[in-house]
Amino acid sequence: MKAIIVTPKSPESARLADVPKPELHEHGALVRVVRCGLCGTDAEINQGLYGEAPHGCDYLILGHENLGRVEAIGASVRSIKPGDWVVATVRRPDDCINCAHGESDMCIKGEYTERGIKAQHGFLAEYYVEVPEYLVRIPPELADVAVLLEPLTIAEKGIWQAFKMQERMVWQPKTAVVFGAGAVGLLATLALRARGLQVAIVALPAHGTLSSDIAEAAGAHYISAAETPLDDLPKMLGPIDVIFEATGSSSIAMKTFEILGVNGVTILSSVTGGDHHVDFQADKVNQRMVLGNMVAFGTVNANKKYYDMGVHDLQKFESLWPGLLARCLTRRVPIAEFSLDILDHRIGVKTTIEISAP
Ligand code: BGC
Repeated sequence: MKAIIVTPKSPESARLADVPKPELHEHGALVRVVRCGLCGTDAEINQGLYGEAPHGCDYLILGHENLGRVEAIGASVRSIKPGDWVVATVRRPDDCINCAHGESDMCIKGEYTERGIKAQHGFLAEYYVEVPEYLVRIPPELADVAVLLEPLTIAEKGIWQAFKMQERMVWQPKTAVVFGAGAVGLLATLALRARGLQVAIVALPAHGTLSSDIAEAAGAHYISAAETPLDDLPKMLGPIDVIFEATGSSSIAMKTFEILGVNGVTILSSVTGGDHHVDFQADKVNQRMVLGNMVAFGTVNANKKYYDMGVHDLQKFESLWPGLLARCLTRRVPIAEFSLDILDHRIGVKTTIEISAP
C-alpha cells in the first residue's frame, strides 16, 4: 500500500513509498484512511529532531491527525462495524500506573509509544489496523471536519485541566489570550469562545487572513504580533485570566509569564524540539507568579476522554458557527502529490493529505 514514510533522525527523508498492508487480526479493525492532517510535529520528525521507527523497522509511517472508515473487523470485535467513521488516538500505554488507568497522556515512565511519532507506525497510509479501545467513533455528520479532532484534543485537555486546577479558588474568568493561529491555537480559541470567554488570538503574520477571518467569525479578537508589543496586551485587554500557548516558540512561552493576570493560568502546549536559549527575567517573573498566585503547566497528548469532549465540542462549534470548521481545512493534497515542500511549508491553517475517497 502507499504510505508517507521517514527514516527517523535523517533530515528531509519524508517520501511516498510502497509498504506492506497491515494484516487484520481477531481483535482489531482494518481502517481505510480517508485523510490525515500535517502538523509541526510531522515537520520536526522530517527534520530529524524527533521520531522513532518501530522496533526492527528502519522507517516510520508518519501521520497522527487522522480520519478513516472501518473496512473490516476481527471475529471478536463488537463495538464497531464496517462503514463506521473513526479517529484513532495517538498514544499507546506502557505499564505505569497512569497508563493502567487510561491516562497514557500522563505517563510516568515515558515508555509509551505514539502512532506516527514514537515507535509505532502512523496513519499516513492507505490502511491501518487498530483495536477498538483506541478508536473513537465519529458521528457521520462530523466526518467532513473530524480530521481536526486530534489537534482539538490538545486544546480540550489543556483547557479542561486549567479549569480543574482553578477550582482552587472562586474563579470567574473573563479574558483569554491564545498565542498561535495554527490549528491548535484556532481550535483552542473556538473552545474558549464556546465557554463564554472573551478571546484574543495573537498570531505571527505568516498565518495571514484565513486565520484572522476564522477567529473573528467566532467572535475572537485577532492581534498581529508584528504590530503589537506583547507587553501591551494587559493594557489593551485588561487582566488575562487564561493563556493558551501554541506557537511552537519557547520565547513566547516564557513571555506569557510576564503578562498573565493575577490568579491566572498559562497552558503550555508547544513541543519545542530545538535548542533555543532565551534571556529570562527570573526574579521579576518568579515574583509576579508568587505574588499573583499564578499557575503555569505543560500539557501533551490526550487520552480518550478528551476525544469524547472534542467530539462534543465539534458538534457545538458546528451549531454555533455553521461551516466555520470546514474553513480551517485550507489545503488538500492528494497523497500521490506529496512533496517535502508541502510538509516543510505548511501554509494556511491545516494542510491535509487526501488518501482515499470517503
Ligand atoms: C501530538 C501529540 C503527541 C505530541 C508529542 C503532538 O503533535 O498531537 O499527540 O503526544 O506531538 O509527541
